[in-house]
Amino acid sequence: MTPDSPLTEQLGDIERALRAELSQAQNEDALEDVRVRFLGRSGEITAVRRTIGKLPAGERPGAGRIINDAVAEYETLFERRREELAREALEERLRQAIDVTFPGIPPLVGSIHPIRRTMDDLLAYFERRGFAVVVGPEIESDYNNFDALNIPPDHPAREGLDSFYLRPDLVLRTHTSPMQIRVMQRNPPPLAIVVPGRVYRRDALDARHLYAFHQIEGLLVAPGVHLGHLKGALTGMCREVFGPQQSVRFRPSFFPFTEPSAEVDTTCPACGGAGCRTCGGSGWIELGGAGMVHPSVLREVGYDPDVVNGWAFGVGIERVAFTRHGMDDIRAFVENDPAVLEQLA
Ligand code: DAH
Repeated sequence: MTPDSPLTEQLGDIERALRAELSQAQNEDALEDVRVRFLGRSGEITAVRRTIGKLPAGERPGAGRIINDAVAEYETLFERRREELAREALEERLRQAIDVTFPGIPPLVGSIHPIRRTMDDLLAYFERRGFAVVVGPEIESDYNNFDALNIPPDHPAREGLDSFYLRPDLVLRTHTSPMQIRVMQRNPPPLAIVVPGRVYRRDALDARHLYAFHQIEGLLVAPGVHLGHLKGALTGMCREVFGPQQSVRFRPSFFPFTEPSAEVDTTCPACGGAGCRTCGGSGWIELGGAGMVHPSVLREVGYDPDVVNGWAFGVGIERVAFTRHGMDDIRAFVENDPAVLEQLA
């Protein structure tokens, strides 16, 4: 048997045909089809094998080897085509998985929480005027939270109903006012401070009440301080946050730690004072309490009320932020739904 014998020629023809068909086969099924036609039991190779029987006995083993070698070569061709198809299929899948023309998902960018932002804006107004920003503990002695602020033991604010008591003498502060005591006890007058912080009350949660909320306390103590200074400061603060058209009004009120005392309102920014849903038709939004520091409080911290006096205020931050953003449910501040926060950012 020589390389150009009829058998090798025949096998060469088969190989050429096989190569052509393999390159046409575009998937596993088509490939299998080709295999059956060439290597299958009634395929081309079987037909070639049958011709061995017609050869002289001496040539048969050689012819058998040549056919086996050819079959091994065909198997290799099949295997190569199979790998090629698999690689193409993978590349196609990757092309689909990474579509660079597809619009991207914008990254979530954080923002400052509306409560923090309102707090910062209010504080900035006072910081620019030389007030020191101080913070204190949320767990307070009932002395600082109540007694020293002239709130007697039988005062309703001291009942467990309104406050979270941790021990008979320890309470989650119900307001930021105890910081007045802490700061005055440690520093001689004059002083000017603002105190941002979280406070706690046993209120039922609803659209207008949280049991943990934020206040800013303000305190200015110096000789000759009067109510006009207080009103000027609060008016400036409201104009900073809501705009230059804001007014502030004082309504006579009572707090044990101030005399006189006032509830502080500012022009409803939603309607400019005409009356609307936000302000319940009154044209005013309540911000908190204020007044002239009570002489008993000054005496309690060792100050002489005949030499210095002071004003103080406590403003609810949620109330301000709520009004600022025209919201209708205060719980949105603590639920922290990203969609809502994004809107408020
Ligand atoms: N501490 C009061 C409260 O939480 C608010 C307040 C009223 C604070 C009058 C003051 C003040 O500093 O002078 O309801």
